[in-house]
Amino acid sequence: MIYLDYVSTTPLNQEVNRMYQSLLNDYFANADSLYSLGLKTSALMEKSRELTAQLLHVLPEEIIFTSGASESNSTAIKGCAFQYQNRGKHIITTAVEHSSVYQSCVQLRDVFGFDVDFISVDENGQLDLQQLKKTIRPDTIFITLMYVNNEVGMVFPIEEVYQIIQRTNPKVKLHVDMVQALGKIPVDLSHVDLASFSAHKIYGLKGSGVLYKKSSTSIIPLINGGQQEHQLRGGTSNTATHTMFAKTLRLALENLDQKYRYVTSLNQYVREQLSQMTDVVINTPAQHVSPYILNFSCVGYKPEVLLHALEMNECYVSTKSTCSSHKNDISRTLQAMGIDENIAKSAIRISFSHHTTKDEIDEFLFYLKQVLQTIKKQR
Ligand SMILES: Cc1ncc(COP(=O)(O)O)c(C=O)c1O
Repeated sequence: MIYLDYVSTTPLNQEVNRMYQSLLNDYFANADSLYSLGLKTSALMEKSRELTAQLLHVLPEEIIFTSGASESNSTAIKGCAFQYQNRGKHIITTAVEHSSVYQSCVQLRDVFGFDVDFISVDENGQLDLQQLKKTIRPDTIFITLMYVNNEVGMVFPIEEVYQIIQRTNPKVKLHVDMVQALGKIPVDLSHVDLASFSAHKIYGLKGSGVLYKKSSTSIIPLINGGQQEHQLRGGTSNTATHTMFAKTLRLALENLDQKYRYVTSLNQYVREQLSQMTDVVINTPAQHVSPYILNFSCVGYKPEVLLHALEMNECYVSTKSTCSSHKNDISRTLQAMGIDENIAKSAIRISFSHHTTKDEIDEFLFYLKQVLQTIKKQR
């Protein structure tokens, strides 16, 4: 099998898997129970919170365990909007966000009467910082944007966005979706008020995430019901899953530079090979991008047909963001970059891991060439 869809999800780390299985058996008690079984379970989960905080250089009380980044994003965005609506009802985001951010903002606009501005990107996928500066108003309550784009791979300048906020309206909160950055590039939370993370993108469990919330920032909880997660997320804690977050993160942060360099060389190789193929256009810009993601188009080919043809050879790629894969429309990100419709509608995304080998890449390229020839003959 050649798996090239690590942005969508990753296989479970076997160390994480083993420990998780034993926790399920031995630590089943409710973490809020007052007897020793419950206290033992709670202690493990709190240890994970402490370690997670330590690894992210923040405080344990700033870590909220969630069911994944979609929940973290929804909680940060709606929780912040409801909390600070007395300051104003204006929100800023970008045109290329993950659907969990995009839909949360659209819901705030359409259902709750917030005013939302979507900052555009240029042909290289980079944010229009001048537009951002001009869009911040006295009634702007927060900006929500991603660090690494999940479809094309561009990296946004979070530090510069923070500086713009400081110069224009320092009351504006900054929420960053860091899902595709964690375990791949260094993340710095010092200038961020809220940040979202997901475990299954870094070889951890599905249904596991973290919302970082600076102590000086408040949110209205979306799930009411109990004292769990600093009273911000009611419901019996998923203790075994939350306990595994810290270990998952620790493993993901090991040898970050080494993994980055290796994946950069793989990416470079694929780029060189793809650029020699007729009908192939590379959509991921050359600069300010994550090497873990490469988006390209086989112009004139239906991406779903290619995907399934590659699948016949046990080679797995993606057409666009997996969360929008059942919709037939063109990727919002490629559209925002102004990519020609004919090119955008045939886009394929491949994403790498430090586990990906050069042999796998060569096999993928072989199958891709073969598939392009076969399908062409059938047209
Ligand atoms: C940038 C980004 N944000 C959020 C999410 C949602 O993550 P989860 O599957 O943990 O809800 C994803 C997953 O594809 C993503 O790539």
